[in-house]
Amino acid sequence: MQIKRVGVVGCGLMGSGIVETCARAGYQVAVREVNTALLEKGLQRIKGSMAKGVEKGKLAQADMDAAWGRIRGSVALDDLADSDLVIEAVLENMAEKKQIFAAMDKLLAQHVIIASNTSSLCITEMASVTKRPDRVLGMHFFNPVPVMPLLEIVRTILTSEETLQAAKEFGASVGKAIVIAKDTPGFIVNLLLVPYLLNAVRALENGVATREDIDTGMKLGCNHPMGPLTLLDFIGLDTAYYIANVMYDEFRDAQYAAPPLLRRMVLAGHLGRKTGKGFYDYK
Ligand code: 3HC
Repeated sequence: MQIKRVGVVGCGLMGSGIVETCARAGYQVAVREVNTALLEKGLQRIKGSMAKGVEKGKLAQADMDAAWGRIRGSVALDDLADSDLVIEAVLENMAEKKQIFAAMDKLLAQHVIIASNTSSLCITEMASVTKRPDRVLGMHFFNPVPVMPLLEIVRTILTSEETLQAAKEFGASVGKAIVIAKDTPGFIVNLLLVPYLLNAVRALENGVATREDIDTGMKLGCNHPMGPLTLLDFIGLDTAYYIANVMYDEFRDAQYAAPPLLRRMVLAGHLGRKTGKGFYDYK
């Protein structure tokens, strides 16, 4: 099961990071977006990120040019047909993901692995719409993908040992450290991270401290690179709210219930960095 060509579905924040990481590791990458405007935006994000890598001395200009030459953008799923591995990184919407898994299953050779970058949705449900559930798993990358060293691999009860091994080898080949989790909401990282982030919002809501002091407390008291409210702005409040709801729906445990303030900020469109306003102002 030799992987040479990687297909990525979705060129948003996560998809573009995955494309960059794979191309920099030497893979030929075909990425698909729904329209040319979104594709162009995603490709420019990749270029900008690699240029930053060059500027910071992490990447040689020649390696950036070579990686860029390995990336092929498209608005048609069919252009991913010759992939040896496909990673789906579209919005967290189960209906859309199932549609993509069913389409890719028809399109791809039977041995090809289909992975989802979902942070919370059920991988087994995605596998259920394919005729290759043994070749479906989760590959959960972290934002910013080219910088964060972890890949969380999610194994369902149907994932074969061979598929798991191939995913581990692939993850190592793109320079990531691997952890393996069961297909349970939040896997490892979000199972622990989400209640922590929700508690930070509750602390703010309950007047425990200012947003700055909550963040400084965790940055300097626990050596975290970002405080929880800054991290929520970075992840996107809508994304965090969505993940919390998926976890709450499945576990019915109050620790995963989104606090009222988070819901109201999402309804107000204060989604964090991407909208220029979240817990902090970015305009
Ligand atoms: N290629 C290679 N290296 C790059 C790069 C690129 N394209 N862009 C940046 N870098 C390097 C920089 O050179 C720097 O390296 P150095 O520390 O050796 O100097 C490092 O990456 C950090 O980059 P910056 O200097 O630009 O930025 P900061 O120092 O401000 O760090 C950050 C930014 C990495 C985002 C840091 O604040 C951080 O780690 N924050 C926490 C991020 C986090 O927790 N992410 C996970 C979110 S949860 C998630 O994704 C799961 C989902 O399901 C919700």
